[in-house]
Amino acid sequence: MSAPIIRRLAELRGKHRDWTMAGESIGVVPTMGALHAGHLSLVEAAKAACDRVIVTIFVNPKQFNNPEDLANYPRTEHEDAAKLAPYGVDAIYVPDPEEIYPQGFATGVSVTGVSDQMEGACRPGHFDGVATVVAKLFLQTGAGKAFFGEKDYQQLLVVRRMARDLDIPIEVIGCPTVREASGLAMSSRNLRLSAEGLEKASRLYPVLQRLAAELCGGASLDALQDDAKADLLAAGFEEVEYLSLNSSEDLRPLKTADAPSRLFAAAWIEGVRLIDNVSVG
Ligand code: PAF
Repeated sequence: MSAPIIRRLAELRGKHRDWTMAGESIGVVPTMGALHAGHLSLVEAAKAACDRVIVTIFVNPKQFNNPEDLANYPRTEHEDAAKLAPYGVDAIYVPDPEEIYPQGFATGVSVTGVSDQMEGACRPGHFDGVATVVAKLFLQTGAGKAFFGEKDYQQLLVVRRMARDLDIPIEVIGCPTVREASGLAMSSRNLRLSAEGLEKASRLYPVLQRLAAELCGGASLDALQDDAKADLLAAGFEEVEYLSLNSSEDLRPLKTADAPSRLFAAAWIEGVRLIDNVSVG
């Protein structure tokens, strides 16, 4: 049976009150819709860990630095509700825009440090938009646990830092990236690629894996990255925006993998910007 779609905060608060009074734990899976198996794995993790699960769907205009990207972002509420039906979630919160950004909304949440590099540098304002909407969604749902995919690893760290700094009583849980059989990380943006584009895009993961193995052996990213970029361009990517080695704990940039680290990439194919990352070692 499909879960109720809730559009008003007052109704969501009513549910929260009833569940809390019954002593039930609440988990939230924040999404922008266009759900795929990656999102559904977060729902499964939330179902396993919490008595009640809320999935939020809100295409957040404040986190898009590119108006074209916002306009093209897939909006598939009906299909999303159908995909969630077998999971027995307790509510799908699809807030009316004024529940998130009421007339005169003037507050922003900005997280420094972990936001500064990679996505933060390439997409100015993106993480301010993410941190602001996620802070609101945490406070509105009152959840005790939140589930985020490691595909957006930088986002995961930004959100965790934000919740900790603002004393929002929620545990932010990272879940492994879900991949197509080809290795391509699941993403709502994959919907915009042709069959040929999808095949070419699947070269990103093996290139990252190979690079990660070489970094693990002690090589420096500076020595390897020109070849790796050339491989991606030869595979059909139009542009490699960055390849970056960063500490897994605070995302400080590294030259060699001499601390627990991850390798991150952003690259364009068929005019679509894809990101991915792998653990090094
Ligand atoms: O990862 C996403 O889908 C979004 O950035 C999020 C966390 C739902 C905030 O809008």
